[in-house]
Amino acid sequence: MNSETPLLEILTSATAGRYRNVVHGAVDRTADRLGAVERPTTDTPASVLRDRVAAIDLARPLGSAEAAVVEVDELFAAEAVWFHAPGSLAHLNCPVAVPAVAAEAVLAAVNPSVDTWDQSRIGTEIERRVVSWATGTIGFAAGDGVFTSGGTQSNLHALLLARQAATTARRGSARRAPALDDLVVFATASSHFSVRKSAMLLGLPERAVVDVAADAAGRMRPDALAHAIADARREGRSPMAVVATAGTTDRGCIDPLVPIADVCDLEDVWLHVDAAYGCGLLVSPTRRHLLAGIERARSVTADFHKSFFQPVSSSALLVRDPEDLRRASWHADYLNPEDADEPNQVDKSLQTTRRFDALKLWATLRASGADAIGRAFDVVLDVAERVHEHVAAHPDLVLVAPTQLSTVLFRWQPDGVTDAEADALVAPLRAALLAEGRVLVAKTVIDRRPCNKLTLLNPATSTEQVVASLDHVVRTAARLHADGVHGHAGTTTGATR
Ligand SMILES: Cc1ncc(COP(=O)(O)O)c(C=O)c1O
Repeated sequence: MNSETPLLEILTSATAGRYRNVVHGAVDRTADRLGAVERPTTDTPASVLRDRVAAIDLARPLGSAEAAVVEVDELFAAEAVWFHAPGSLAHLNCPVAVPAVAAEAVLAAVNPSVDTWDQSRIGTEIERRVVSWATGTIGFAAGDGVFTSGGTQSNLHALLLARQAATTARRGSARRAPALDDLVVFATASSHFSVRKSAMLLGLPERAVVDVAADAAGRMRPDALAHAIADARREGRSPMAVVATAGTTDRGCIDPLVPIADVCDLEDVWLHVDAAYGCGLLVSPTRRHLLAGIERARSVTADFHKSFFQPVSSSALLVRDPEDLRRASWHADYLNPEDADEPNQVDKSLQTTRRFDALKLWATLRASGADAIGRAFDVVLDVAERVHEHVAAHPDLVLVAPTQLSTVLFRWQPDGVTDAEADALVAPLRAALLAEGRVLVAKTVIDRRPCNKLTLLNPATSTEQVVASLDHVVRTAARLHADGVHGHAGTTTGATR
């Protein structure tokens, strides 16, 4: 080490002034970027981005926090994908609430971990209060839960609890607990892939997840669920859980929760509701009824970083019976011994060190209240309704499916364009738009045919702005088609529209 080698700057009482200057500098630069954003991202080619990152020599530090902040701004922020831009229409990413971002800044500096009481104290109390507020919005009389890193973890956690419940022999029962190989999880083809991934992580065989038949909108059919459970029992298999989705990722549809809960009650099967996307309805002043029956779930996934406008990460697994969380508790002498008399959140979580994400939702609730969040989600859903009408009436677009939330599934297919040609254009259209950075759309497969997808999640984006983005999508598709660009067609029929 020579005298030129920079020292690591640690945030302490002595460096609080440095923190103020460095972070203010970062905030100023980011605010300038935010203010200037017109497009979701730039048109810098992928190879240039890769080369720029590769060219940085990590063995040669810049020498100061200020210089690193400038580099982060110019390397990363200048090329970031911005979810608040009106053309940002691809995925389930939301623009974020200002008080939540401020709380995130506090978290970054304080750096709490809500695993044990002695590491968080008031943080534990705040998380517990936010969880209790959230379970109240569901209608659980005395629920509990814990913040997680996202819907994937919340679903995994729920299915772990369900697996433990299914494989723990009931006291007094002569029946042997079922083996993992015999467990069955009932979902639909539209449920999130994390359900299947969780089953794999939980040691269940591939056949464990059964796709229950769905209606034309992809929603689970309760009659088909009852039959599927009966079939499984007849085969000597054991129903472990039913996963109903309140807001499917592609279609934005909600499985019929009341009749599904009826089947689960009758069959005594764990009902998990994946409301990662649809949880915003919990606070919607006009559409709360769409979640009727959610209070009958045994566990619920809520992704506040989707429809509550919270920064990543902010999700929770919420349970109706607090005792259920104990099914995955683990105790360590050094941390959370069984006889601890302090409320240790680690007892309830899959994680040990864990971010205090609840503070962001707390700050948002304190700044503007739950109604404001629900109203913002309502605005998005109103815009989605109008965009659906626009696409349905558009001569060059086909509306692929209805929604109950805010996705728009469509295909560019003017008269004379064959199904095969339209299908083949879906992937290149998305790629061309991404390369340009002005309007970002997604692609998926619905009823075995590819299509493009918008996911609206920005209450500040108007119908007119989405329509203008769609006009650009239509022009781009027509140009690609005229240029003879096409990708892999997938399943096609060759028919013309
Ligand atoms: C219905 C549903 N469940 C779960 C998830 C996973 O959430 P996360 O990305 O926060 O892990 C998603 C993500 O889009 C989703 O749409």
